[in-house]
Amino acid sequence: MNRSIKLENIGCLITESNVGLDYTYNTSLVIENEFIASIGKGSADKTINCNGKMVSAGFVDSHTHLIFNNLRTDEHQQRLSGATYEEIAKKGGGIVSSIESVRSATRKELFDKAYLRLDRFLSLGTTTIEAKSGYGLDTESEIKSLQVIKELSEAHPVEILPTFMGAHAFPGDYKNKKEEYVSLLIDEMIPEVKRQGIAKFIDVFCEDGYFNIDQSRRILEAGKSAGLTPRIHADEFYNFGASIMAGEVGAISADHLMKIDQKGIQSLKNNNVVATLLPGTTFFLNKNSYAPARKLIDSNITVALATDFNPGSCHIQSMPFIITLAVMKMQMTVEEAFLAATLHGAQAIGLQDEIGSIAVGKKADLILWDISSLSEIPYYVSDHPIRYVIKNGEIVFGS
Ligand code: NIG
Ligand code: FE
Repeated sequence: MNRSIKLENIGCLITESNVGLDYTYNTSLVIENEFIASIGKGSADKTINCNGKMVSAGFVDSHTHLIFNNLRTDEHQQRLSGATYEEIAKKGGGIVSSIESVRSATRKELFDKAYLRLDRFLSLGTTTIEAKSGYGLDTESEIKSLQVIKELSEAHPVEILPTFMGAHAFPGDYKNKKEEYVSLLIDEMIPEVKRQGIAKFIDVFCEDGYFNIDQSRRILEAGKSAGLTPRIHADEFYNFGASIMAGEVGAISADHLMKIDQKGIQSLKNNNVVATLLPGTTFFLNKNSYAPARKLIDSNITVALATDFNPGSCHIQSMPFIITLAVMKMQMTVEEAFLAATLHGAQAIGLQDEIGSIAVGKKADLILWDISSLSEIPYYVSDHPIRYVIKNGEIVFGS
């Protein structure tokens, strides 16, 4: 059945060109089925008056740890008393303290919690996310997490791209036999993920105390052989060459990069790796070492922004707030930050030809704002003046 919607009286339409953002004032847009059919002309069955306000693409959040069970508010409190993420992790907190509750949860429990989080993403203007497993850390619970992601993507309007992240940390029983866990990943988990066809990407936390360069490389290469596209948590707390390796294995994106150096920057550039920056994590961890966004942008690397939403290091779902942090803490312009939160996020998950910007033929994933200009997004800081969110041509939030 054909359906069409016309957005009329748009005060400012945000589109993208090769050089950055374009603004079209006093225009209209027609959606047919799930696609953008025309801009500035055409009619439709149904009309929405945008009252002279702004219309933009929906946000693409290319780095989330959607599937978890318990909150870790205690760690947040400990950090407020001066403890660091690394110290808390060494004392048994951190990623491994999320394992037990995921292992003992039913699929329905994980589904129900994540479903509410997806509702929240939509209300904040996020229409597509990448979502990682990584809090089960045994074959059964990692597969369970990916199956829940699949069920969610069928049940909820937010589009979800699944990432297998069994290499998030070494679970307690493998603390002194790390190579055995790497073998479990390569010989058992990755083949099962491939057999079930339930992930598109493979991710590794390549960091001191987690997976070293050699282990990370072997895991990512095994994932590649199983048809998964590599991405990586790189140079977050220490620099030990993770970004260089990301370029060598052909990762689609290297994420965090708070401690990236010139060699790492060169490797990302030479190999067309997207640099995904997660300033929400720096903020939430109460640190001041934001990733060097300006250096990366000035080196002509594609910079994306994402939330890193997770229970430990960043319990933030709002892309508008991530834009606020990018402009206030990383010296990005609001145009750079918006592009990074939409089209470049889409590039970080390989979907730049389908989503991430407003263009005829692309998916109609749109935000109708209650504001008139882009610079009002960071100005509102913690308010999100969003009237409607449209996903695949349907109004999925707002009334
Ligand atoms: O991206 N850095 C590794 N993983 C997460 C932290 C997850 C957690 O602490 O639960 C991150 O920040
Ligand atoms: Fe992460």
